[in-house]
Amino acid sequence: MTTTDKLEPTVFVIFGGAGDLTWRKLIPALFDLSQDRSLPGQFAIIAVDRVKFSDNRLRRRLHDGVNQFSRFGKAKAGAWNQFAPHVQYLQGDFKKLSTYSALGAQCSLLEKTWGARAHRIFYMATPPSMFGEIPKYLGRAGLARDRQWARIVIEKPIGYDLESARALNAILAASFEESQIYRIDHYLGKETVQNILAFRFANPLFEPIWNRRYVDYVTITVAETVGVEHRGGYYDHAGALRDMVQNHLMQLLCLVAMEPMVSFDADEIRNKKVDVLHAARPIDNQAIHLSAVRGQYGPGFSGSDKVPGYREEDGVAPDSTTETFVALKLFLDNWRWQDVPFYLRTGKRLPRQVSEICIQFRPVPHQSFPTEASVGWQPSRLVMSIQPDEGIVLGFQAKYPGPKMQLRLVDMRFNYRESFDAPSPDAYETLLWDVMKSDATLFMRADQVEAAWQLLMPVLQGWQATPPSDFPNYAAGSWGPEDAQRLLAQGHNWPLPTQLVNPREVKKGKPRPGSK
Ligand code: BG6
Repeated sequence: MTTTDKLEPTVFVIFGGAGDLTWRKLIPALFDLSQDRSLPGQFAIIAVDRVKFSDNRLRRRLHDGVNQFSRFGKAKAGAWNQFAPHVQYLQGDFKKLSTYSALGAQCSLLEKTWGARAHRIFYMATPPSMFGEIPKYLGRAGLARDRQWARIVIEKPIGYDLESARALNAILAASFEESQIYRIDHYLGKETVQNILAFRFANPLFEPIWNRRYVDYVTITVAETVGVEHRGGYYDHAGALRDMVQNHLMQLLCLVAMEPMVSFDADEIRNKKVDVLHAARPIDNQAIHLSAVRGQYGPGFSGSDKVPGYREEDGVAPDSTTETFVALKLFLDNWRWQDVPFYLRTGKRLPRQVSEICIQFRPVPHQSFPTEASVGWQPSRLVMSIQPDEGIVLGFQAKYPGPKMQLRLVDMRFNYRESFDAPSPDAYETLLWDVMKSDATLFMRADQVEAAWQLLMPVLQGWQATPPSDFPNYAAGSWGPEDAQRLLAQGHNWPLPTQLVNPREVKKGKPRPGSK
């Protein structure tokens, strides 16, 4: 982000301003943008919530959040004192029109003080139960009317299933134009996720082999070591399919599989992504087990720490049948990907925190080397590593040194931190900045959200109709239920996490980039 991208005066309204998301993510991101001088000169944050707070009490709480979560570490007193006066508190009930009238008046007052018209961004950082209410009131209060100056930002979950997502999109559409609606998926703000497009479409090298002729199969893994933490109450009603697959993993799938965009235009890119979901082969609701596997963690280990099972977590029912692990096998029925399996998996309490996409290439059409040259031979693969390490690893065959012809898989590594001398902004910084610039490229459009739900509905319904009898079916600290292996075609594998940092260099004592 640069100071050259001039932003116009902006009022950033946060519904749920006293809540966790505001404290942990939104304010630290806005504060970090201010440190990068990437906020407009005329800027205010109005935090709206039901609880009684004074401006000062709220600011003290937000200060604490910034100290814990800012990418710059503890806020310097001078920096915080400059930022804090931009934050105001408005107490009000989200379901009373008077709250919105007061909000409108507060925005107008700011504009009057600035002597300029301001963009008004309404961010819904509330529990999902309010998502359907706030837009209606904004509409009624006339705050949504201006197509150019008013915008609404909504967090996931966008609905609980296809029907509720459609209903919510309809409520939003009753007050706002689609161009005013920003549906956030924080995965799209991650640098390495955006880099998928750069890698695929800014290099002529890879695109010609990015198809069924050369690609054998693709795996997308988003593994977490954490359990449900303090979110058991929410998670037990959601589960991994709704919490992770419907949004984050579907986005990754779209970026890996989409056709080249004609221009870097928000709707052009979003059209190409929706095309991927439209091409997905519908999951057979009579044979869900052939496409989807679910799991729930039992007691086990996180590193060397003993951890409880999911059913023992706070806020989780002791006989819960909610899945904490999902593996899917999908096919895209189009020219590029016909019959290439896309395997997706995500889970909590897995052994490593790792998000990566692995493109596994086909074997060579003919083995010219003697059998003994290629013992343990593996085809080439390309791994896009999203987190925690950020980069790309290309694995290919090379000759092992020595008189004999022997082949080994070797890795060519691109590491973000080594190559660029610039820190990555947090995903929320990128996304909030985009909202302020009215750039919707990295946000989900209504049709994409609905297409993702549509694809997953047979699994949701099938799983609901037949509750699992074997939960918990994986131990915390393992790679999920054994059935996840069963989804894979013969010869296909879930890859082990790749090593972005050359293990030999670590052995030699060369510090890992980013380590102290
Ligand atoms: C959120 C999910 O959307 O993404 C969480 O609700 C999950 O359950 C989180 O832990 C993972 O995000 P990240 O950025 O840590 O990979």
